Amino acid sequence: MTPSEQDPDRVQIFDTTLRDGEQSPGISLNTSEKLEIAHQLARLGVDVIEAGFPISSPGDFEAVQAIAREVHGPVIAGLARIHVGDIDAAFNAVRDAERPRIHTFVSTSDIHIEHQMRATREDVLGLTRAGVAHAKAYVDDVEFSPMDATRADVEFTAEVCQIAIDEGATTVNIPDTVGYTMPQEFTEYLRRLYELAPGLRDVVLSVHCHDDLGLAVANSFAGLLAGARQVECAINGIGERAGNASLEEIVMLLRTRAADVGLRTGVVTQEIARTSRLVSRLTGYPVQPNKAIVGRNAFAHESGIHQDGVLKERTTYEIMDATTVGLDANSIVLGKHSGRHALKQALAELGFEIDGQALNVAFKRFKEIADKKKQVTAMDLEALVTDELREEIPSFVLEWFDVEASSRRPPHATVGVKLPDGNEATGSSTGDGPVDAVFRAINAATDQQGRLREFRVDAVTGGQDALGETSVVLELDGVAGAGQGVSTDIIEAAGRAYVRALSNAVRRRSVAAQAEDLTAEAARASRLSTP
Ligand code: KIV
Ligand code: ZN
Repeated sequence: MTPSEQDPDRVQIFDTTLRDGEQSPGISLNTSEKLEIAHQLARLGVDVIEAGFPISSPGDFEAVQAIAREVHGPVIAGLARIHVGDIDAAFNAVRDAERPRIHTFVSTSDIHIEHQMRATREDVLGLTRAGVAHAKAYVDDVEFSPMDATRADVEFTAEVCQIAIDEGATTVNIPDTVGYTMPQEFTEYLRRLYELAPGLRDVVLSVHCHDDLGLAVANSFAGLLAGARQVECAINGIGERAGNASLEEIVMLLRTRAADVGLRTGVVTQEIARTSRLVSRLTGYPVQPNKAIVGRNAFAHESGIHQDGVLKERTTYEIMDATTVGLDANSIVLGKHSGRHALKQALAELGFEIDGQALNVAFKRFKEIADKKKQVTAMDLEALVTDELREEIPSFVLEWFDVEASSRRPPHATVGVKLPDGNEATGSSTGDGPVDAVFRAINAATDQQGRLREFRVDAVTGGQDALGETSVVLELDGVAGAGQGVSTDIIEAAGRAYVRALSNAVRRRSVAAQAEDLTAEAARASRLSTP
């Protein structure tokens, strides 16, 4: 029984950070990073983790399988187009989960059917019947999505949904794939669907809204008011193009206005801020300062009148208490005399169970930072540990750098970079500034032509000795890569971020090349088998 079947006011949170979120340009998470996020999502208390799209690449398959095997609590879903090969891959990836789900989809809009699928409505009906039945033979928990539903004919979409339900779908998810609908229109659309596909009353209705017009959360909320009891969303609202509905916004909306709306989720809201920071660090996607709930300024008061009011009584200008989303909740402070045991305990309190070699590496890094910084806080530790986790896979690693900077001649940098084969390569370059010189030297050492697209520097905490956190987005042969780095030295943090972004872009480039090879091979095979 699902939570919303047990309690009609309970909304299930389906997190798609690792699937739709990972489809954001420049994001490429490896298996250990995805596992780290999935464990945190389980701590956050989401109901379903959509762990990836297993047919899309061997790396995605491996990550979904690892999450299915290791992460306990939430349902683990794998995405599949409505084809046998996709569904088989999704099943094989999630089969070891405590509660596996196959999520399969096909478009119902004529725009997609004619121009993308080059098929007919009849084909879609047949594919749905066969595909859902195929998934159902593997698992009980099958979710079906009519893609681009909000631009599709509602009568046809209802017919497709009813077929999916008849074949055993237990959740029907209505996507606003291109972020086109409006709240009142979506409400009416869902009302008609309920009327036209009566079977919808026996399954969980879900909504999946994109943010192209900034309405993803409003549309998801309208969906809930119209009867949906699952909402698909992503941490920090990441996802295709403008992203998905932001998990933290929808959850805090339901919590803050519970008395008026009467719906609830199972999310442990105190874990929200930490989850947001983890996702931002590992994806390299910074959170805009004024982002609702998790932005740096979401609980900051600038005007004197507001500050005065909040000092007298917090509720004068705050509708939520920052501690309910996990801000200001941590008092951990370590210093340069703290030992390995204290570090291990502090990390455990933050939810990081680290032992052996990983603890040694974290401790070494901690000592380096503690030597430069008087107090190492929970936020610093989180940034450090996340920073270290990124180096588990063989990719480029910045080993050392030398920079000469002066206002009288161009800055010059030399770097040493560990290559995937374990050898160290050096590179030198001048640049427009010391950071630019380091980036160019890294290109020279790795023999890659990365082009910087975005560069940001933030302080992890306040104070003059704060850790600096940098984000880099670069482009390599038309492929984007993002990375972040942390250090008390901004040049080092920038170099670390750049090599990570470069490693990600190289990985993405090779996945794209493999996909092209497979497509060419499939085309060749189909030509050969055509009589
Ligand atoms: O936006 C969309 O339509 C999707 C589906 C696969 C659910 O992501
Ligand atoms: Zn989507």
